[in-house]
Amino acid sequence: MFNTYLKKNLNVLSKDKQKDVENILVQPRYIPYNDRPTTNHIHIDSFLMSQGVKDCMTWRGIALGKSVYDFALIPMMIWEIQPASILEIGSGEGASAIWMADLCKSYELSTKVYSMDIEPPRIHIREHERVTFFQGDSREINNKFDVENLPHPWIILEDAHIEVNRVMEYFEKHMHIGDYMIIEDTRGRLQTKLEVPSTLHVDAYYCDYFGRNATSAMNTILCKRNV
Ligand SMILES: C[S@@+](CC[C@H](N)C(=O)[O-])C[C@H]1O[C@@H](n2cnc3c(N)ncnc32)[C@H](O)[C@@H]1O
Repeated sequence: MFNTYLKKNLNVLSKDKQKDVENILVQPRYIPYNDRPTTNHIHIDSFLMSQGVKDCMTWRGIALGKSVYDFALIPMMIWEIQPASILEIGSGEGASAIWMADLCKSYELSTKVYSMDIEPPRIHIREHERVTFFQGDSREINNKFDVENLPHPWIILEDAHIEVNRVMEYFEKHMHIGDYMIIEDTRGRLQTKLEVPSTLHVDAYYCDYFGRNATSAMNTILCKRNV
């Protein structure tokens, strides 16, 4: 693997940032949620702008509610995890489900995407052979997804931000070791209220890929571990 610009130019960083980088390089990959630092290398201004300033970024012309960091992380995660099922809570305009399905298709995976929203996207957007959009309220998460039969590995993306602790508790019971749950937009207020089940460990490799917690899922790219 070729060297990153950062490795070649580490001395450009301040001493404390160099130390941060060294810590990221040596930390274990999977870390209990309560042991993680709550610091962030991405200034809040840059982070807020990273979804687009004038408009949200788009996929196939449809508004996609991702930061540029997550837009880079998720393709790498899908390639590594090779999910058989992607479960999304909060479809938005449908772009995220379609984007992930397009990625899976380009990777020649047989992944299917199931995307639930209290108000599903408009009908002409919903047509994709790998995506099932359906109506559902995450306040009644039990029985919304066919958790007994959907093949694993799973990547679950929580992007509705409603009753997140209950959603985590529910899915955790059905997840297999190695399945992932990404709770998006946890930077800020939501982070302080999270009760992450102890079997779900932070994947520090992805959370810190572009610097400490350079993702909307601050400390919440979670992998079920055998603990
Ligand atoms: C931030 S958007 C999702 C963005 C999308 N995942 C993306 O990346 O483009 C949040 C979505 O959550 C949905 N939502 C809000 N409350 C909900 C609930 N109780 N159950 C299910 N979906 C809900 C909204 O309708 C909205 O479409």
